[in-house]
Amino acid sequence: MKVVTRPGQRRGVEVHEFASATASSDDLATLRRHIYHDKIVVLKSQTLDSADFVALGAEFGTPVPYYEPMYHHPDSEFVFVSSNVHRETGRIGVPKTGAFWHCDYQFMPTPFAVTLFYPQQLPTASRGTYFIDMADAYRRLTPQLREAITDTFCWHSARRYVKIRPTDVFRPLAEVIADVERITPAQRWPSVLIHPITGERVLYLSEAFTYAIEHASGQPLPESLLSQILAECGQLDEHCAHDNIFLQSYEPGDLVLWDNRTLVHRALHNPGNEATESWRVTVLDDHPLSAQEPT
Ligand SMILES: [Fe+2]
Repeated sequence: MKVVTRPGQRRGVEVHEFASATASSDDLATLRRHIYHDKIVVLKSQTLDSADFVALGAEFGTPVPYYEPMYHHPDSEFVFVSSNVHRETGRIGVPKTGAFWHCDYQFMPTPFAVTLFYPQQLPTASRGTYFIDMADAYRRLTPQLREAITDTFCWHSARRYVKIRPTDVFRPLAEVIADVERITPAQRWPSVLIHPITGERVLYLSEAFTYAIEHASGQPLPESLLSQILAECGQLDEHCAHDNIFLQSYEPGDLVLWDNRTLVHRALHNPGNEATESWRVTVLDDHPLSAQEPT
Protein backbone atom coordinates (compact mmCIF):
# COMPACT_ATOMS: atom_id res chain seq x y z
CA MET A 1 0.00 0.00 0.00
CA LYS A 2 1.34 3.41 -1.01
CA VAL A 3 -0.03 6.62 0.50
CA VAL A 4 0.74 9.83 -1.36
CA THR A 5 -0.25 13.43 -0.83
CA ARG A 6 -2.05 14.89 -3.79
CA PRO A 7 -0.37 17.73 -5.63
CA GLY A 8 -2.75 20.62 -6.25
CA GLN A 9 -5.44 19.19 -3.96
CA ARG A 10 -6.58 21.05 -0.88
CA ARG A 11 -7.19 18.01 1.31
CA GLY A 12 -6.63 14.34 1.64
CA VAL A 13 -4.34 11.56 0.53
CA GLU A 14 -4.41 9.11 -2.34
CA VAL A 15 -3.78 5.42 -1.75
CA HIS A 16 -2.39 3.08 -4.40
CA GLU A 17 -2.04 -0.69 -4.33
CA PHE A 18 -4.60 -1.16 -1.56
CA ALA A 19 -6.53 -4.44 -1.66
CA SER A 20 -9.08 -4.88 1.09
CA ALA A 21 -8.86 -8.70 0.89
CA THR A 22 -5.17 -8.73 1.79
CA ALA A 23 -4.77 -5.49 3.76
CA SER A 24 -2.80 -5.81 6.99
CA SER A 25 -4.05 -4.44 10.30
CA ASP A 26 -1.25 -1.84 10.02
CA ASP A 27 -2.58 -0.74 6.62
CA LEU A 28 -6.09 -0.33 8.02
CA ALA A 29 -4.83 1.56 11.08
CA THR A 30 -2.93 3.88 8.72
CA LEU A 31 -6.09 4.52 6.69
CA ARG A 32 -8.10 5.22 9.85
CA ARG A 33 -5.51 7.79 10.92
CA HIS A 34 -5.58 9.48 7.52
CA ILE A 35 -9.41 9.65 7.44
CA TYR A 36 -9.51 11.63 10.68
CA HIS A 37 -6.38 13.73 10.23
CA ASP A 38 -6.37 14.36 6.45
CA LYS A 39 -10.20 14.21 6.22
CA ILE A 40 -10.32 12.54 2.76
CA VAL A 41 -8.76 9.26 1.59
CA VAL A 42 -9.01 8.24 -2.08
CA LEU A 43 -8.43 4.53 -2.67
CA LYS A 44 -7.45 4.06 -6.32
CA SER A 45 -8.28 1.19 -8.69
CA GLN A 46 -10.87 -0.58 -6.54
CA THR A 47 -12.97 -3.47 -7.91
CA LEU A 48 -15.37 -4.40 -5.11
CA ASP A 49 -18.82 -5.92 -5.23
CA SER A 50 -21.49 -4.77 -2.78
CA ALA A 51 -20.53 -7.36 -0.13
CA ASP A 52 -16.81 -6.45 -0.38
CA PHE A 53 -17.74 -2.79 -0.09
CA VAL A 54 -19.73 -3.34 3.11
CA ALA A 55 -16.90 -5.48 4.54
CA LEU A 56 -14.45 -2.66 3.82
CA GLY A 57 -16.76 -0.20 5.57
CA ALA A 58 -16.82 -2.46 8.62
CA GLU A 59 -13.05 -1.91 9.00
CA PHE A 60 -13.79 1.72 9.88
CA GLY A 61 -16.83 1.34 12.12
CA THR A 62 -20.27 -0.23 12.27
CA PRO A 63 -22.15 0.01 8.96
CA VAL A 64 -25.71 1.34 9.32
CA PRO A 65 -28.49 0.84 6.74
CA TYR A 66 -30.14 4.05 5.59
CA TYR A 67 -33.48 4.48 7.36
CA GLU A 68 -35.41 4.74 4.10
CA PRO A 69 -35.40 1.39 2.20
CA MET A 70 -35.95 2.88 -1.25
CA TYR A 71 -32.23 3.79 -1.30
CA HIS A 72 -31.01 0.24 -0.54
CA HIS A 73 -29.01 -1.87 -2.97
CA PRO A 74 -31.04 -5.01 -3.76
CA ASP A 75 -28.16 -7.21 -2.51
CA SER A 76 -27.38 -5.28 0.68
CA GLU A 77 -29.37 -2.88 2.84
CA PHE A 78 -26.03 -1.39 3.94
CA VAL A 79 -25.34 0.03 0.48
CA PHE A 80 -27.12 3.31 -0.30
CA VAL A 81 -27.55 3.78 -4.04
CA SER A 82 -27.70 7.04 -5.97
CA SER A 83 -28.60 6.08 -9.54
CA ASN A 84 -30.54 7.13 -12.60
CA VAL A 85 -29.71 3.87 -14.40
CA HIS A 86 -32.62 1.98 -15.93
CA ARG A 87 -32.05 -1.77 -15.79
CA GLU A 88 -34.15 -4.44 -17.41
CA THR A 89 -35.12 -5.45 -13.88
CA GLY A 90 -36.10 -1.86 -13.04
CA ARG A 91 -34.54 1.08 -11.28
CA ILE A 92 -32.51 0.79 -8.07
CA GLY A 93 -31.82 3.51 -5.52
CA VAL A 94 -32.77 7.17 -6.01
CA PRO A 95 -31.49 9.56 -8.71
CA LYS A 96 -29.40 12.69 -8.08
CA THR A 97 -29.11 12.58 -4.30
CA GLY A 98 -27.38 15.02 -1.98
CA ALA A 99 -27.00 18.13 -4.16
CA PHE A 100 -27.11 20.41 -1.10
CA TRP A 101 -24.70 21.16 1.76
CA HIS A 102 -24.99 18.59 4.56
CA CYS A 103 -23.32 16.00 6.76
CA ASP A 104 -24.72 12.48 6.36
CA TYR A 105 -27.37 11.78 9.06
CA GLN A 106 -26.87 15.18 10.74
CA PHE A 107 -30.64 15.11 11.33
CA MET A 108 -30.51 11.78 13.18
CA PRO A 109 -29.67 10.87 16.81
CA THR A 110 -26.51 9.10 15.56
CA PRO A 111 -24.78 11.01 12.73
CA PHE A 112 -22.27 8.88 10.85
CA ALA A 113 -18.56 9.08 11.62
CA VAL A 114 -17.22 8.05 8.22
CA THR A 115 -18.72 7.97 4.74
CA LEU A 116 -17.38 5.66 2.03
CA PHE A 117 -18.39 6.71 -1.49
CA TYR A 118 -17.82 4.47 -4.48
CA PRO A 119 -18.92 5.62 -7.96
CA GLN A 120 -19.97 2.70 -10.17
CA GLN A 121 -20.78 4.49 -13.38
CA LEU A 122 -19.56 7.99 -14.14
CA PRO A 123 -20.90 10.47 -16.70
CA THR A 124 -18.36 11.96 -19.10
CA ALA A 125 -18.15 15.19 -17.07
CA SER A 126 -19.32 16.98 -13.97
CA ARG A 127 -19.67 14.26 -11.36
CA GLY A 128 -17.93 15.11 -8.14
CA THR A 129 -18.39 16.17 -4.56
CA TYR A 130 -17.85 19.64 -3.15
CA PHE A 131 -16.47 19.79 0.38
CA ILE A 132 -15.89 22.38 3.09
CA ASP A 133 -13.59 21.59 6.02
CA MET A 134 -15.67 22.98 8.89
CA ALA A 135 -12.73 22.95 11.31
CA ASP A 136 -10.94 25.33 8.94
CA ALA A 137 -14.16 27.30 8.53
CA TYR A 138 -14.36 27.67 12.33
CA ARG A 139 -10.77 28.94 12.50
CA ARG A 140 -11.55 31.47 9.74
CA LEU A 141 -14.64 32.92 11.42
CA THR A 142 -14.29 36.46 12.68
CA PRO A 143 -13.57 36.62 16.44
CA GLN A 144 -16.98 38.30 16.84
CA LEU A 145 -18.80 35.36 15.24
CA ARG A 146 -16.76 32.79 17.19
CA GLU A 147 -17.79 34.65 20.35
CA ALA A 148 -21.44 34.86 19.23
CA ILE A 149 -21.74 31.08 18.82
CA THR A 150 -20.02 30.13 22.06
CA ASP A 151 -22.36 27.98 24.18
CA THR A 152 -24.93 27.73 21.42
CA PHE A 153 -26.73 24.78 19.86
CA CYS A 154 -28.30 24.25 16.46
CA TRP A 155 -31.42 22.37 15.43
CA HIS A 156 -31.29 20.05 12.43
CA SER A 157 -34.07 18.46 10.39
CA ALA A 158 -34.32 16.52 7.15
CA ARG A 159 -37.71 18.06 6.39
CA ARG A 160 -36.65 20.29 3.48
CA TYR A 161 -34.90 17.52 1.57
CA VAL A 162 -36.82 14.32 2.29
CA LYS A 163 -37.62 12.71 -1.06
CA ILE A 164 -41.23 11.77 -1.74
CA ARG A 165 -41.49 7.98 -1.85
CA PRO A 166 -43.43 6.11 -4.53
CA THR A 167 -45.78 4.96 -1.75
CA ASP A 168 -46.60 8.62 -0.93
CA VAL A 169 -48.26 9.30 -4.28
CA PHE A 170 -51.91 10.32 -3.75
CA ARG A 171 -51.37 10.91 0.00
CA PRO A 172 -52.24 14.35 1.44
CA LEU A 173 -49.08 16.41 1.87
CA ALA A 174 -49.94 17.14 5.53
CA GLU A 175 -49.81 13.40 6.29
CA VAL A 176 -46.46 13.03 4.54
CA ILE A 177 -45.05 16.00 6.49
CA ALA A 178 -46.39 14.56 9.77
CA ASP A 179 -44.61 11.28 8.94
CA VAL A 180 -41.32 13.12 8.38
CA GLU A 181 -41.58 14.83 11.79
CA ARG A 182 -42.48 11.54 13.52
CA ILE A 183 -39.82 9.38 11.81
CA THR A 184 -37.03 11.97 11.85
CA PRO A 185 -37.71 14.39 14.72
CA ALA A 186 -35.36 17.39 14.77
CA GLN A 187 -32.04 16.98 16.59
CA ARG A 188 -30.12 19.50 18.68
CA TRP A 189 -26.32 19.48 18.51
CA PRO A 190 -23.65 21.89 19.75
CA SER A 191 -22.88 24.51 17.09
CA VAL A 192 -19.19 23.76 17.61
CA LEU A 193 -18.12 20.15 18.14
CA ILE A 194 -14.92 19.06 19.76
CA HIS A 195 -13.79 16.30 17.42
CA PRO A 196 -13.33 13.23 19.65
CA ILE A 197 -10.22 12.05 17.78
CA THR A 198 -8.43 15.14 16.47
CA GLY A 199 -9.54 17.53 19.24
CA GLU A 200 -10.31 20.16 16.60
CA ARG A 201 -13.21 22.54 17.01
CA VAL A 202 -15.65 21.93 14.15
CA LEU A 203 -18.56 24.13 13.10
CA TYR A 204 -21.47 21.71 12.96
CA LEU A 205 -24.18 23.16 10.78
CA SER A 206 -25.36 22.89 7.20
CA GLU A 207 -27.46 24.84 4.76
CA ALA A 208 -29.71 21.83 4.08
CA PHE A 209 -30.50 20.56 7.56
CA THR A 210 -29.81 23.33 10.11
CA TYR A 211 -32.83 25.57 10.67
CA ALA A 212 -32.42 27.28 14.06
CA ILE A 213 -29.78 28.35 16.57
CA GLU A 214 -30.25 28.91 20.28
CA HIS A 215 -28.29 29.56 23.43
CA ALA A 216 -27.44 26.51 25.58
CA SER A 217 -30.28 27.60 27.89
CA GLY A 218 -32.77 27.14 25.02
CA GLN A 219 -33.24 30.84 24.38
CA PRO A 220 -33.65 31.31 20.59
CA LEU A 221 -31.05 33.38 18.76
CA PRO A 222 -31.76 35.39 15.59
CA GLU A 223 -31.95 33.50 12.30
CA SER A 224 -29.58 36.14 10.92
CA LEU A 225 -26.79 34.68 13.10
CA LEU A 226 -27.24 31.31 11.43
CA SER A 227 -27.28 32.89 7.96
CA GLN A 228 -24.16 34.88 8.76
CA ILE A 229 -22.23 31.76 9.80
CA LEU A 230 -23.43 29.81 6.76
CA ALA A 231 -22.40 32.70 4.51
CA GLU A 232 -18.96 33.07 6.11
CA CYS A 233 -18.18 29.38 5.75
CA GLY A 234 -19.24 29.32 2.07
CA GLN A 235 -22.45 27.31 2.18
CA LEU A 236 -24.62 30.09 0.73
CA ASP A 237 -22.41 30.50 -2.35
CA GLU A 238 -24.57 29.07 -5.13
CA HIS A 239 -21.61 29.08 -7.53
CA CYS A 240 -19.43 27.06 -5.12
CA ALA A 241 -16.60 29.53 -5.69
CA HIS A 242 -16.01 30.44 -2.02
CA ASP A 243 -12.41 30.01 -0.91
CA ASN A 244 -13.38 27.34 1.66
CA ILE A 245 -14.91 25.07 -1.03
CA PHE A 246 -12.96 22.37 -2.84
CA LEU A 247 -14.10 19.83 -5.41
CA GLN A 248 -13.30 16.12 -5.34
CA SER A 249 -13.72 14.66 -8.82
CA TYR A 250 -13.68 10.95 -9.64
CA GLU A 251 -11.94 8.51 -11.92
CA PRO A 252 -13.23 4.99 -12.50
CA GLY A 253 -12.11 2.76 -9.60
CA ASP A 254 -11.93 5.59 -7.05
CA LEU A 255 -13.37 4.86 -3.62
CA VAL A 256 -13.42 7.89 -1.36
CA LEU A 257 -13.65 7.89 2.45
CA TRP A 258 -14.21 11.03 4.46
CA ASP A 259 -14.60 12.27 8.01
CA ASN A 260 -18.31 13.05 8.20
CA ARG A 261 -17.95 15.06 11.44
CA THR A 262 -15.53 17.59 9.98
CA LEU A 263 -16.56 17.90 6.33
CA VAL A 264 -19.82 19.12 4.92
CA HIS A 265 -20.40 17.98 1.37
CA ARG A 266 -22.63 18.64 -1.62
CA ALA A 267 -22.96 16.44 -4.69
CA LEU A 268 -22.14 17.85 -8.11
CA HIS A 269 -24.34 16.09 -10.66
CA ASN A 270 -24.01 16.17 -14.40
CA PRO A 271 -26.90 18.39 -15.59
CA GLY A 272 -27.73 16.01 -18.46
CA ASN A 273 -29.33 12.61 -18.39
CA GLU A 274 -26.22 10.49 -18.82
CA ALA A 275 -26.34 7.26 -16.84
CA THR A 276 -24.62 7.54 -13.48
CA GLU A 277 -24.57 5.43 -10.33
CA SER A 278 -22.76 5.65 -6.99
CA TRP A 279 -22.77 3.48 -3.91
CA ARG A 280 -22.29 4.64 -0.35
CA VAL A 281 -21.63 2.89 2.94
CA THR A 282 -21.80 4.87 6.18
CA VAL A 283 -20.43 3.80 9.55
CA LEU A 284 -20.47 4.76 13.21
CA ASP A 285 -17.22 4.64 15.16
CA ASP A 286 -16.80 4.06 18.90
CA HIS A 287 -16.73 7.77 19.74
CA PRO A 288 -19.46 10.28 20.53
CA LEU A 289 -20.25 12.91 17.91
CA SER A 290 -18.45 15.47 20.07
CA ALA A 291 -16.07 15.19 22.99
CA GLN A 292 -17.88 18.18 24.39
CA GLU A 293 -20.03 17.40 27.40
CA PRO A 294 -23.69 18.06 26.63
CA THR A 295 -25.15 20.92 28.61
FE1 LIG B 1 -24.33 12.93 1.66
